Amino acid sequence: MEQYWNNRQKQKQAIRSGELWYDDGGRHINAHGGGIIKYGDTYYWFGEHKDDWTSNAMVGVMCYASKDLINWRNCGVALSVTAPAINQTNRQGGRRRGGATTDSDIEQGCILERPKVIYNPVTKKFCMWFHLELKGRGYDAARYGVAVADRPEGPYKFLYSQRANAGTWPLEGSPMHFDEYLKRDFGTGQMSRDMTLFVDDDGKAYHIFSSEENYTLQIAELTADYLHHTGRYTRMAPGGHNEAPAIFKKDGTYWMITSGCTGWEPNEARMFSAPSIWGPWTQHPNPCRGPKAEKTFMGQSTFILPAGNQYIFMADIWRPRHPRDARYIWLPIEFEDGKPVVRWQDEWIPSTITK
Ligand code: DGJ
Repeated sequence: MEQYWNNRQKQKQAIRSGELWYDDGGRHINAHGGGIIKYGDTYYWFGEHKDDWTSNAMVGVMCYASKDLINWRNCGVALSVTAPAINQTNRQGGRRRGGATTDSDIEQGCILERPKVIYNPVTKKFCMWFHLELKGRGYDAARYGVAVADRPEGPYKFLYSQRANAGTWPLEGSPMHFDEYLKRDFGTGQMSRDMTLFVDDDGKAYHIFSSEENYTLQIAELTADYLHHTGRYTRMAPGGHNEAPAIFKKDGTYWMITSGCTGWEPNEARMFSAPSIWGPWTQHPNPCRGPKAEKTFMGQSTFILPAGNQYIFMADIWRPRHPRDARYIWLPIEFEDGKPVVRWQDEWIPSTITK
């Protein structure tokens, strides 16, 4: 108990990566693989709810709200997965995916990862995209899902899930490098796994996702309502095996930090830059510095948040045996010789507090 109060007191003053982070109800924040938007004077943090015994989605996407990035109010479930109907296994006309019992793509027990939300000022809707794997099919479906809400904290209404840009070649035209899966999936749509969203200064939004059996990232433009792909997309780092994309833009340069592909195990972060979202993308050395920098401090990137005068690198320390106990790494991005650097700090105070 004493330890709990000590931690809570410390937590109210600074960001301490890797420790338990409590919400206003005294529970460890349950928003993994997450992302944050600022709306008005409030930050809304969305992430995967995880149980103690499974990483599959038993609840859905959680939302937390804060004005200072340190004290978080639990806003509850923003997007709920659908509970299975009772006594309806193998129902005629229903989906039969390994015993699935509802018609919903986001059925309880599906895999729903890395939710991200962006606000569309024209439609005044909050648009949530996430990586979806249909229940009982492991990581085969490789879809994205889209949901929408009128308020930041939801409730979000699930719209649809599918693969990306079926029947469309990337802007580069005919396939060249590591193109086997691009060609294979041309008709049914490109695979869409680890993902993030990015809204550019001109209001155009992009979906960035691991595709082609995780060999190649794809960057796809969204329609003006942020609810669909336009069909314009590019391939990034073909054959580079990147997951967990996180992106920000500073002084006209786009910076992306990703991970390699080692499941829940940490690996060395990668960094890329480009003068345009469409590339060309140049790879740079690992931006992490400090203990375990070669393993991203035992974490995996999920988002980069512009906040005050800072950019905050966000990552997850996964705990696959106790998924709910996964921890968060948030570190301010520094710049050295014009390039981003993520330096470990045991604790630090965000500029939302100091200014
Ligand atoms: C790594 C991904 O980045 C995570 O989101 C998750 O899909 C795990 N793999 C599952 O092994």
